[in-house]
Amino acid sequence: MNGTTIRDVARQAGVSIATVSRVINGSGYVKDSTRQRVEAAVQALGFLPNNLARSLLSGSTKIVGAVFPDISNPFFPVVARGIDDALTSHGYMLIIVNTDNDAGQEEALVGVLLQKRVDGIVFVTGSPESSGLVKRASAQVPVLLVDREIEGAECDTVTSDNYRGAYEMTRYLAGLGHKRIAFISGPAKYSTSRKRLMGFTDGLRDSGAQEQPLLFYGDFKYETGYSIGREILSAGQGITAVFAANDLMALGAMRCFLDTGILVPAQIAVAGYDDIFMSPLVRPSLTTVSQPAYRMGAVAAEMLLERLQSAGKAGRQGVRFLALDPALVVRESTGGGRSSS
Ligand code: RIB
Repeated sequence: MNGTTIRDVARQAGVSIATVSRVINGSGYVKDSTRQRVEAAVQALGFLPNNLARSLLSGSTKIVGAVFPDISNPFFPVVARGIDDALTSHGYMLIIVNTDNDAGQEEALVGVLLQKRVDGIVFVTGSPESSGLVKRASAQVPVLLVDREIEGAECDTVTSDNYRGAYEMTRYLAGLGHKRIAFISGPAKYSTSRKRLMGFTDGLRDSGAQEQPLLFYGDFKYETGYSIGREILSAGQGITAVFAANDLMALGAMRCFLDTGILVPAQIAVAGYDDIFMSPLVRPSLTTVSQPAYRMGAVAAEMLLERLQSAGKAGRQGVRFLALDPALVVRESTGGGRSSS
């Protein structure tokens, strides 16, 4: 700020204060020639009342929005950390919003991000419910999906190989001799749930299992894992291993077994998916599929920045899809060692 006022700009440009305000706030109609006179006066007088004015003139706020489904789940803050570190290293700022898996909340929050003129939006909430919103947002700013895919979405996507992670875990459990493995799935609307379920059923098939898969339908929450643990115990189906589609449900089921006096893994082995920070800390430590959550966020942010920096230039890249590698982490809950990692 150099003391120049909006009145000085209006006088210099030969327009009203209201016209200068419309240009600064990007609101209402302003003839191109008038806009150019106002912008020239702003530049000449060095009038940049705040970031918003600066961003209107430069066309960039250097702010990126990220839409998360459930920030109480420890998996997502690690993704956020990866996004934030990548953005800040390039001089950008991150605004995080949390939808609690609610489509209406997501619509409202994305509207706020667009009003704040973010330069781009990362959606970690991919589902059929949000596909229309993602499409509408992509008409205004570059968007990108992380973790959960959206069928047919015309935008870059960074995820991990959920099918392979679940397939390998299932083969590992079957290799331990488990014939009756229960699977606790995540919500079917998410691509991550569907691909893990497919990996589980194919892993059973390729391990020579004859019976129908023992499926229980969860929602990625700890409490649901606990209650499904009770169902598994009362089902009395000779289940000797439980594979949950995320660590929170696996930890819930394991807590239920331990509260009921069931020995883990001696009587029931337990495995999860994500490798959240708690998984090596609980006793028995949790066997799981580690997702590269931090890298998913960082790679996604880098891809979005490439789009932002190449906007308007020739040779625009086509839509990119990247699935990073998961990794099996064997710990005590399936009979492995006391892994510190
Ligand atoms: O734990 C939450 C789950 O939802 C994670 O596995 C992540 O992949 C997301 O899909």
